Amino acid sequence: MLKKCLYPVAGYGTRFLPATKSMAKEMLPVVDKPLIQYAVSEAMDAGLVQQSFVTGRTKRSIEDHFDISYEVENEIKGSSKEDQLSEIREIRENCVFTYTRQREMKGLGHAILTSEPMIGDEPFGVILADDLCITEGDSVMKQMVGLYKQFRCSIIAIEEVPKEETYKYGVIAGEQFQDNLFKVKDMVEKPAPEDAPSNMAIIGRYILTPDIFDYIRETKPGAGGEVQITDALLAQAKNGCVMAYKFKGKRFDCGSLHGYVEATNYCYNKFHDPSE
Ligand code: UTP
Repeated sequence: MLKKCLYPVAGYGTRFLPATKSMAKEMLPVVDKPLIQYAVSEAMDAGLVQQSFVTGRTKRSIEDHFDISYEVENEIKGSSKEDQLSEIREIRENCVFTYTRQREMKGLGHAILTSEPMIGDEPFGVILADDLCITEGDSVMKQMVGLYKQFRCSIIAIEEVPKEETYKYGVIAGEQFQDNLFKVKDMVEKPAPEDAPSNMAIIGRYILTPDIFDYIRETKPGAGGEVQITDALLAQAKNGCVMAYKFKGKRFDCGSLHGYVEATNYCYNKFHDPSE
């Protein structure tokens, strides 16, 4: 059973300095909701109710966000402002939270390995909160859980990107299996456009089977001493099966200034009444 979702949130968020000097990038609001709340709400929609975070030294506000805030909640009690807390209260009531710290930021692969004691020997979802996904129907994680139930192997979300932008992503080569679904054959981390095996880029949604921890342990650090999850996934794909899924929905790269501003405008227009 898939119950756990992992949020690697230990990264420094240097593209948002000075805002992220002492504040978590994942607490940046898109309109009135922090990125991490969009992520947890997406996981809950998919039935993942055990939320696990790999955090770092400047990330305490994430824990506070998912805890009770007696003062403010007492202050607005009985007023219409309580509506603004309804989603976070629902999350709090339905989910459990665990946290551990990554002491040295040695990459996403290393962050995921750090979560092993929290995750144990079960499949789990992974959401990178700075990739904000907005869908009309099921959340992206829910779409992926449906596929996991069918295939019982690691699933990664992909998106077609302009060829000149492949250097920002992990890029796959795959064999089409059915509509929007590919069996992964190759994967390259941040390739130059001329070296990219396709324009299908990995975005921040994964479902991983627990043998991924062994593959990460065997992965040698790459550029900048970082352990890449892409290398471990490629080993897993070669020894077994990894599926890549072209999800339905819209993704914003909120780890970049451009994507963050774009997401803010989009969500404001979509979810908010301008007369408010
Ligand atoms: P990014 O590459 O976006 O890095 O990491 P970052 O540090 O957050 O941001 P910039 O590039 O400095 O602006 C992708 C995801 O992996 C997590 C990050 O928190 C982010 O969600 N991560 C990355 C870790 O948890 N630990 C790491 O060592 C590296």
